[in-house]
Amino acid sequence: MEKGIWLAACLTAVLGAMPAGAWGQNVKSIVSGATWTATDGTSINAHGGGMLYEDGYYYWFGEHREGMKSAGVSVYRSKDLYNWENLGLALTPQGERTNTLQDISEGRLVERPKVIKNEKTGKYVMWGHWEDGEDYSKARVVVATADKIEGPYTFVRTLRPNGQESRDQTVFRDDDGRAYHIRSSENNMTVHCTLLSDDYTKPTDTYERIIPEKQYEAPAIMKIGDTYIGFFSGCTSWDPNPGHVLMTKDLMSAGDWRDLGNPCIDDGAETTYRSQSTFVLKVEGYEDAYMFMADRWNKSNIETSTYVWLPIHLRTGYPMLRWYDSWDLSIFEQMARFKRAASLEDGNTYVLLSRLSDRMLSSDEGNICLYNDDEGRNLQFVFEAVDGEEDTYRLKDVATGQCLEASGSSLRLAPEGGSTAQQWVMERQGDKFYVVKSRLNGRVLTVKDGSTKNKAQVVLDNYAASNKTKFGLYFDSKRFDYEEDNPFVSPKEAEDSTTVGVPAVGTDGGNTSVRCEGGSLVVKPGTGFEGMNSLTLYDAAGRCLLRTEAASVAGVIVAGRPAGLSEGLYMIRVENGMTKAVRTLKFIHP
Ligand code: DGJ
Repeated sequence: MEKGIWLAACLTAVLGAMPAGAWGQNVKSIVSGATWTATDGTSINAHGGGMLYEDGYYYWFGEHREGMKSAGVSVYRSKDLYNWENLGLALTPQGERTNTLQDISEGRLVERPKVIKNEKTGKYVMWGHWEDGEDYSKARVVVATADKIEGPYTFVRTLRPNGQESRDQTVFRDDDGRAYHIRSSENNMTVHCTLLSDDYTKPTDTYERIIPEKQYEAPAIMKIGDTYIGFFSGCTSWDPNPGHVLMTKDLMSAGDWRDLGNPCIDDGAETTYRSQSTFVLKVEGYEDAYMFMADRWNKSNIETSTYVWLPIHLRTGYPMLRWYDSWDLSIFEQMARFKRAASLEDGNTYVLLSRLSDRMLSSDEGNICLYNDDEGRNLQFVFEAVDGEEDTYRLKDVATGQCLEASGSSLRLAPEGGSTAQQWVMERQGDKFYVVKSRLNGRVLTVKDGSTKNKAQVVLDNYAASNKTKFGLYFDSKRFDYEEDNPFVSPKEAEDSTTVGVPAVGTDGGNTSVRCEGGSLVVKPGTGFEGMNSLTLYDAAGRCLLRTEAASVAGVIVAGRPAGLSEGLYMIRVENGMTKAVRTLKFIHP
């Protein structure tokens, strides 16, 4: 073989064996955890980073490390998020060490730098976590500004916002032009948020302890519509831990942030796939496309730490992360394809999406399960209203013409028949998800064991107030033009809103009685309430105050009365399969 050809053959073999994303040229996918190389052949060195998009380029700012040493803030740029051009240092250590702590001299620590642009001044403003280089006790921020996005950034000052400690931090520019500094404070116990001055270089006096006493760090904030979403980690130094996602419609209100727990599902969820959040990027050119950015720290050599970037699943209205070995931006087209239906209309075609995993009700070789988006397996149902039955439908699979049928605790597709086994009561919940109940036995569609895994089995079980019984009604926007609904109900709104429409009469023949006794709600049901029952208590405005399961023992069902129940009129609903009793309850303090 000629030498040139031999070299080319070797190179092809080597390139073929390398994971996508390991080579710095013509990369076409994102491979989290691999070593990423810039177009100049050097390993990308931009940790705890953030991004800013301008004129067709994403600019990625991050901690430049030499081993463990902090060595300024680097900046890279890319048109496609795969191929990165190294633009060098945006903020360079310089000047003399001062006793006033007002310097960025050699040896100072700058972590988690973030840059925003101020439209009024035309300046780019960088905020970062600053330490003196001895330990983490100074807990300050550094502010620097530049006239060009890539810098050079000029040191402005270090400070403690509102006199408070500030370690892991980020800045967030809202769509009204206001910007906020969000940080771990109070010895990392409490997250603070401060409104910045008009030029973004100083804190104002307006600040709030938005997430008190949870010990969260690594903040990354995004906004979709009017909903703010915050990703955080726990505090375990460089070691990974389960993440947290919180939502609010009021960024500066401590009382409104709702903690939804770990946004990650599938293997690796308990360590955020061995990474720690740093930023959320709005990806340009796609609908509702946001990318989660995190660091997979190498605690003995921070310089060689790698990056974990994942698309954020948002269509359920609850942010979710899944691991992808490799992905590209086309995933965002797929994620935006199925939309939440504003209402359930007779004759329309819908899919059912699990609240737990953002996966669709599917048929995998006859097994009814949840599956990733997969046109071959996902069940698209025509919903046919059942005459004379409120909110009741037959679900006819478009691909096979068969209907979803209950069989004991199992589900199957079967040829269309007239029985109640093929009739499903769609009960809409306050967060717009549905509980899907069989008319045959009153059991509801339930994800077996609450699994979030692909191919998780879906069965029929007694109702439980859990995400495993919640399914969203979605439609294929490529094929249908139904009215869409915004899936983002803040958890607080969902808690406060009316849940399942309370039927005016029960089916118990009027035999059930309800009263309060001490700290308990005591129900004496008629027949048909043997075994486990579900109890729901509403106030006069229809707000759900309690939803619980309780067994009927010797003809009596007892449940705990919600603490702090004030005097007044309430509605209580007791359900056992298809038998239900609805009673008013007058509560007077004992
Ligand atoms: C965890 C933080 O998130 C990192 O940015 C860094 O400050 C390490 N702690 C230091 O232990």
